[in-house]
This record gives sequence, structure tokens and C-alpha cells, in this order.
Amino acid sequence: MRRRLVVANWKMHKTIAEADAFVDEFVRVYHPRDDVEVVIAPAFTALAFLGAKLRGLPIELGAQTMHWGTHGAFTGEVSAPMLLEVGVEYVIVGHSERRAYCDETDHTVNLKVTAALAAGITPVVAVGETSEQHAAGETIEHVTAQTKAALAGLDDDQIARCVFAYEPIWAIGSGTPDTPEGANAVMGAIRGTFPALADVRILYGGSMKPGNAAAFAAQPNIDGGLVGGASLVPEHFADLIAATAPAASLH
Ligand code: PGA
Repeated sequence: MRRRLVVANWKMHKTIAEADAFVDEFVRVYHPRDDVEVVIAPAFTALAFLGAKLRGLPIELGAQTMHWGTHGAFTGEVSAPMLLEVGVEYVIVGHSERRAYCDETDHTVNLKVTAALAAGITPVVAVGETSEQHAAGETIEHVTAQTKAALAGLDDDQIARCVFAYEPIWAIGSGTPDTPEGANAVMGAIRGTFPALADVRILYGGSMKPGNAAAFAAQPNIDGGLVGGASLVPEHFADLIAATAPAASLH
């Protein structure tokens, strides 16, 4: 069985002091369990601090993006070796906000996925359609094309080491999530794109909350969540994680 995974995408929120206070409160309210893996992806400035603070805690560290090169004249960028040095194990690649505002393309997503895997960092590859594409019935076509582009040139072993996140853009931060059944169907199409995706974890993202997480996690293709707003408050995030636990192991 695929292990559940919940990733906090803090976006451009939380100073080091705020991240420190969050973790202190979170460890008070969160009951760790072996069948759910938890990752926090803070802003770059808080990565090194959290890398040290999370050592020995059942929380792993993620980055929100990276450059595909190892070093060089790329002002403002951060590379995989730099992330590894501070304890990063996951990196979000291709988030729709980066595709929309920071010139992330299918091609650069592919370069980043390849570079992350080469460095031993697990890419969390985000795909998703706009509201216009959704309304036009183009969702499956769009997300499977994004998936194929992200994985172009990779072999089965590399593909099997990825995580995917299906995030309908219209659902992100809107308070209007996709339906669990609708998301599950799209995620099934993503999984069907390559045989090597059969056991890859696919997360749902887009207004996932403590109150709806269980319904998403009950779907066969949904292995957890990529969570923005609901990951910013320790109690909400802990409740959401608890709700994603596999039903068979709830007591
Ligand atoms: P949201 O964001 O949970 O606030 O909708 C999810 C994301 O953008 O990853």
C-alpha cells in the first residue's frame, strides 16, 4: 500500500520566528503515525532553520522550487546541492503559481524533475487545469500532457521515484475544492500516463481542509494532499493530517 503523504506548501508565508512558533505548537497537537508522512515546505529563508529544528521530529523538509543547475551565474536561484545541505528531501516543481508568475514551463519542469532525482530529492510535480480548461472539458487532456512533458526522457526507475500533485487551478485558495470523485478520476488518468506511475503517490491540492480531507483520502487514486491555507495553522494542519489516515487503520 502506498504510504500517505501530506505536504504543507507555505508559499510566501512565515518568517523564521513564525516557522519556529508553528513547529513548537504543531508537535504539541500532532499525533505522529507511521502510515502518514508529513512534509513542510517553507520559504527559502526558513529552510536551514527548519532543517535543524526538524531533526529527530517526524516531519520532513521540502522546498517550493529549485533551479536545475548545480551552480552558476543564475542570480536569485537555489540549486539541489544547496537544498540537500540543509536537509531538504522533497521539492515542489511546477506549481501553478510558479507557472503563472515565474515563467515555469513544461520544459523547465522537466529539467527540474530530472535534476532533483539526480540529486536524490523527491520532486512533487504539480499539474492542473485552469477554470476555462475545466469548463471546456479539457482537464484530462491538459494534465496528462503536463505529466508527459514533466517526465520526458526519464526511465521507469526515475518515474517511480516521483510524487505527483493534481491541483485544479480554480480550486487553489478559492474555498471551492474539486469533488473527491472528480479529482480521483483525473488522478487515475495521470497515473495511467506511464506504467511506472502505478505505485507513485498522487496528492490532491486545492482548498483541502480538515473537513474534506477524509473524503479525498478515501478515493483509490488519492494518496494525500498538497496543502496551502490549511497548513498555516498548527491545529488545522494536524486535524487535516489525521483525516487523511488510511480508513482501515483509524481507531
Ligand atoms: P490551498 O493551496 O490549499 O490554499 O488551496 C494549495 C496549493 O496551492 O498547493
